[in-house]
Amino acid sequence: MQLAGRNIVLGVTGGIAAYKAAELVRLLVKEGASVQVAMTEAATNFVTPVTFQALSGKAVFTDQWDSRVANNMAHIDLSRAADALLVAPGSADFLAKLANGLADDLLTTLILARDCPLLVAPAMNRQMWDNPATRRNVASLRSDGVVILGPGCGDQACGETGPGRMLEAAEIVDEIVAHFQPKLLAGKRVLLTAGPTFEAIDPVRGITNLSSGKMGYAISRAAREAGAEVTLVSGPVCLPCPRGVTRIAVTSALQMHTAVLRRAADNDVFIAVAAVADYRPAQFIEQKIKKAQCPTPPTIELEQNPDILGEVAALPRPPLCVGFAAESEKLAEYAESKRRCKKIPLIAGNLIGDGFGGDHNTLVLFDDDGQHPLPPAPKIDLARQLVARIAALLEKRPC
Ligand code: PMT
Repeated sequence: MQLAGRNIVLGVTGGIAAYKAAELVRLLVKEGASVQVAMTEAATNFVTPVTFQALSGKAVFTDQWDSRVANNMAHIDLSRAADALLVAPGSADFLAKLANGLADDLLTTLILARDCPLLVAPAMNRQMWDNPATRRNVASLRSDGVVILGPGCGDQACGETGPGRMLEAAEIVDEIVAHFQPKLLAGKRVLLTAGPTFEAIDPVRGITNLSSGKMGYAISRAAREAGAEVTLVSGPVCLPCPRGVTRIAVTSALQMHTAVLRRAADNDVFIAVAAVADYRPAQFIEQKIKKAQCPTPPTIELEQNPDILGEVAALPRPPLCVGFAAESEKLAEYAESKRRCKKIPLIAGNLIGDGFGGDHNTLVLFDDDGQHPLPPAPKIDLARQLVARIAALLEKRPC
């Protein structure tokens, strides 16, 4: 329930993407938001108010002169109660009206009368999105402080392909959740590693581990929500890249090492969440090892991988370094010893049974002030708490 207690007014304008707004209402309500829908007349040609009423549990407003509002001030009443105003889909025509401050129906009027943030998810044909008039309108809305969500790129209802399609409902919900997070890392650059590494033995075999990448991806998302510019160096995982995060895909520890060391000095924070293989096969066998050609089981000689976190922490002007430790026992002892050995200010310890693979985790943070247990929670919640701790440490850090 990431939007519990939030009041959102959703403005639906006339475009085929209005059908996606129904799913959007469902997901916003599922996250705990109270959603009041207001539609333009054109929108009612695509989806009926009854659909939104059923999904939001609230009567829908379509008319400025709605007799349910005793003082005929629906535009004031609706906007004052809102924590945020979201327009999805935002048609080209509606963007033009907003950019020029028109107020000729309920939705434009309540937007003009608002005292809360306005987020707009545009949806239109690619040529309309590329039209200089639309570009001018979008630039002018941005400079007025309106948050423009997307648009996405891909197949369009008209049969063309390109930029202009509305973001998916789940992506818009993520953006709304992000919008409400405190901007603790605004202006900061954060570099992370996540996932496992894969150390190849031959073209089809290798050494890896059970890290899913979920913890590291959740932290990238939380850092981005907190306003940071985020670069994620990721081992091989099956997760979508969080929106607004730059992902660099790597396979082996050596590739991860190169990708991180190339960027570390330009970042304010480095968070090493990856389960990096400590060793790799000393030799890569070019052709697939054939059982028939090995009279006895083959022996694989290993050599040590570089310690990425240790090297970043030893840079002349290192970013604030945060490590992770997954242990099967003696969590405090082993995590604290890794923190001291790598000379880093903060390490997050987790037990192997809690951390690997699932959507939840339990963390204990170790820093110079001692231990800070973070009780079991979804990884995204823990990620936000970790980000808050990192922001506090950054504040204390001498420039
Ligand atoms: O991906 P999930 O399924 O969500 O699981 C998350 C996780 C359990 C993998 C994660 O929470 C975690 O604990 N990651 C660290 C795993 C670990 O124990 O790493 P380590 O003890 O080998 O290394 C300690 C620290 O040094 C880690 O920050 C690691 O990223 C870093 N390291 C290690 C070796 C190496 N060669 N280079 C490194 O940078």
